[in-house]
Amino acid sequence: MTWNPDSWQARAAQQQVQYPDPTALAKVVDEMRRLPPLVTSWEVESLREQLARAARGEAFLLQGGDCAESFDDCRPDAIAAKLKILMQMSLVLVHGTRRPVIRVGRIAGQYAKPRSADTETKGGVTLPSYRGDIVNREAFTESDRTPDPVLMLRGYERAALTLNFVRALADGGFADLHHPEYWDISFADGAHHALEYRRIVDQIRESISFVTAITGMDSALLKRVDFFTSHEGLALLYEAAQTRAVPRRPGFYNLSTHMPWIGMRTAQLDGAHVEFHRGIQNPLGIKIGPAMTAEWLTELLGALDPERVPGRITLIARMGAGNVGEHLPRLVEAVKKMGRRPLWVCDPMHGNTESTPQGYKTRRFDKILAELEESFAVHESLGSSLGGVHFEMTGEDVTECVGGARGLVEADLERAYRTRVDPRLNYEQALELALLVARHLRKG
Ligand code: PEP
Ligand code: CO
Repeated sequence: MTWNPDSWQARAAQQQVQYPDPTALAKVVDEMRRLPPLVTSWEVESLREQLARAARGEAFLLQGGDCAESFDDCRPDAIAAKLKILMQMSLVLVHGTRRPVIRVGRIAGQYAKPRSADTETKGGVTLPSYRGDIVNREAFTESDRTPDPVLMLRGYERAALTLNFVRALADGGFADLHHPEYWDISFADGAHHALEYRRIVDQIRESISFVTAITGMDSALLKRVDFFTSHEGLALLYEAAQTRAVPRRPGFYNLSTHMPWIGMRTAQLDGAHVEFHRGIQNPLGIKIGPAMTAEWLTELLGALDPERVPGRITLIARMGAGNVGEHLPRLVEAVKKMGRRPLWVCDPMHGNTESTPQGYKTRRFDKILAELEESFAVHESLGSSLGGVHFEMTGEDVTECVGGARGLVEADLERAYRTRVDPRLNYEQALELALLVARHLRKG
């Protein structure tokens, strides 16, 4: 069947919204089609090659960032903090894995959210659910909750501003290991893992001085890092508007991000999201939960990667602690039976969400860690390997997940609970998890 960037329109699309004014919508989509892309096909191909390496066990993927980015958080300090914690985690993971770490943010476009309910009722009033800043506004009024197409343009612009700043930081010395001040932990003295982290940074720095001394090269490569973007490919009008053919390469690229992923609620084989993603050249993530069957996964891989392109598919399992042993092995076996070798990643966040009696959505650090450990164990026992991790996290001192070395408890949540949708690891919790994963990998 022929594919084009709009062929998904003929399929049933889950999680889409009704825009009240089709003329205004068409105008926005048309404008977005004419604007320059956010990323290039060169970068997309480079990421795909790196992911292929990770699938072969030669690199490790660190994917992380907000559950839902908000337009208000398009601020320099928040962006720099996010980049910094991802850099620090990746350094720890390089040390643990002795492999290159591929850094991919949930950033510069993670603005659309799937919701389990279409509407929300408060005090007898029922309004459409908040679906992310690119769709509608969070405030509980009819006008705020009505989908507004102009928000897609605002989202595209925010994504461009974010990416512009990230690129400048990643290129301009922010990642330079010769500058310890950039690598320092911000609340150093209070941080429980500060010592272990500092030891790792010092060791890496010493290795660098050693190589510099014996080779006489002060590698410019150490002064910049690759950093890629990803988001859920959910709002298909936004994605399709930035999907284009490029000169001198076959096929179409979604140039709104390097790596879109298909969320768990939109992976229907005959649905619009699978139709859209099958036709783009980007590497794709696929979220898989406990409801995924071996047959469904087999067919999804057939539809999305018929040519078995190395690096094309990253399977992001999110089973929940205690469920991994039951659900992951059959999927790993099914994939092996097909003779495929996708990159397996663990998202220990989305299967571990719970609500406190006070009504906060939270996640327990112990469960997040348990799911990671169960996943490593399942892959090891099947002769497969877990090649990456996927976190919802922020570089700031929020209180959204409980546990971790500082021992956050439910009563702490109200202090700095700021997420728009799902609870994120804070700066210390994220670094601690990276240290624990690195420790595990060093042993293995
Ligand atoms: C997400 O990654 O924010 C998300 C909604 O995940 P999932 O599709 O796995 O539930
Ligand atoms: Co989420």
